[in-house]
Amino acid sequence: MAIPTSSSTQQKGVVITVPILVLSVSVAAIFLFFLLSSLSTCTCPPSAGNGAVPSAAAVSYHGGSDGEKISTTKDDIEWVRDQIYSNGLHMQDNVLRKGINPRTRAQQLQDLRQYKGISHYEAPEADNHTALPCPGELLVEEHHSNYGEPWAGGRDVFEFLAEASNLTPNSRVLEIGCGTLRVGLHFIRYLSREHFHCLERDELSLMAALRYELPSQGLLHKRPMIVRGEDMEFSKFGSNVAYDLIYASAVFLHMPDKLVWVGLERLASKLKPYDGRIFVSHNIKFCSRLGGDECTKRLMSLGLEYIGKQTHDSLLFNHYEIWFGFRRSKA
Ligand SMILES: C[S@@+](CC[C@H](N)C(=O)[O-])C[C@H]1O[C@@H](n2cnc3c(N)ncnc32)[C@H](O)[C@@H]1O
Repeated sequence: MAIPTSSSTQQKGVVITVPILVLSVSVAAIFLFFLLSSLSTCTCPPSAGNGAVPSAAAVSYHGGSDGEKISTTKDDIEWVRDQIYSNGLHMQDNVLRKGINPRTRAQQLQDLRQYKGISHYEAPEADNHTALPCPGELLVEEHHSNYGEPWAGGRDVFEFLAEASNLTPNSRVLEIGCGTLRVGLHFIRYLSREHFHCLERDELSLMAALRYELPSQGLLHKRPMIVRGEDMEFSKFGSNVAYDLIYASAVFLHMPDKLVWVGLERLASKLKPYDGRIFVSHNIKFCSRLGGDECTKRLMSLGLEYIGKQTHDSLLFNHYEIWFGFRRSKA
């Protein structure tokens, strides 16, 4: 059966049969599908700190092997802005009202001590009903104010580093000086079990990480390897490990230059050749204090090279972090 086109009523009519019409529509649909999918997968490199929020397309290739997207996209921002407005909240004139029972951290801690939490158990049983009794200071999250930045900045650091190193869940990551896991938590959540390592010297930070953050975030099953130490001694992490990313967030500036170099010397061979990245925040005075040429030579002798500086804007506050990148110069 032939379906006449509009022109078939004219003298020189064209007759198109049903199978031909179906075939043409299918070909057009397939063509359109490939056109749209090629537009939405961009393999552009990550942009360096221009303040722009990456588009969904620009970050899609950073997703892990399971396709999970890491970075906040324009769509995400638009969505949450819509939520804020549609719930009658206002972006600029936020006056944060206090809740029903406003408490400072100090008052919460006082309450915890005075009322022993809100225990319904009477002594002597009162303390025996929890598997991981946690110090009150940690329960009121005092450690979220331990270091200079807002706690939320940890997510910014994660997003930047994950993209800059093309992280996948299967990557292996070492953090030097992970503190209370402000940044590390995001890596641990994203990475496969046992793939996050950290060397940290501070006892209180380790307490916060192990006794509060990991259990309260439901991340114990990820078995991160967190080792106490201050001598840049990494042997406990194993001799065959090859890291995709090694980073020090706000750490090297607090260390003697000599110790930083000891660490780099020990870690150079543990970084995956060429694709692996070392990122150091704030400054690299351990390097610049030697003088530019001297530093380059020293890095070269370790098989490392400096690949440049990037900045990264915070999502929630007006702030940017500076990151200095290094990679292996020889296998
Ligand atoms: C400013 S805090 C940053 C913590 C974490 N990286 C962050 O961004 O939230 C610096 C951390 O480096 C740790 N640190 C300093 N010197 C260290 C060393 N020699 N070995 C291991 N950790 C060290 C400190 O204990 C502290 O937890």
